[in-house]
Amino acid sequence: MKIAMGNDHSAVEMKNEIKAYVEAKGYEVIDFGTNSSESCDYPVYGEKVGRAVAAGEADLGILICGTGVGISLAANKVKGVRACVCSEPYSAKLSKMHNNTNILAFGARVVGVELAKMIVDQWLEAEFEGGRHQRRVDMLMEIENR
Ligand code: RB5
Repeated sequence: MKIAMGNDHSAVEMKNEIKAYVEAKGYEVIDFGTNSSESCDYPVYGEKVGRAVAAGEADLGILICGTGVGISLAANKVKGVRACVCSEPYSAKLSKMHNNTNILAFGARVVGVELAKMIVDQWLEAEFEGGRHQRRVDMLMEIENR
């Protein structure tokens, strides 16, 4: 399974930790950067990962900025993306089971690396339940067509 990753300058170290963590679990990572601590603009990386996931180049995406907010907002502007910011594992798990999120975001200035690993684990291991949730996700995606 391929995971697209993207981050801004505030999250280079966190991205590298999480990238190594998921690679060790057998996932292939497509790293869209940034890999520099020089100040940059999170929408660039949110859009890159959003487009990679929406186009099927990657199965899922992980985005990290200071809070996870800005970079997830950018990804959510891409048609087909369902990105959410999660600062704890429960919401991450339920976001996959009920909302079929295809991008997980979190903040390098909000969560520590060990909590981030738990959030990532719960999200990657959870499966979409379908059923009544499929109808609601379909409704969400129809909003993009209006
Ligand atoms: C960068 O300073 C910061 O604004 C960014 O990482 C993020 O938190 C925005 O949502």
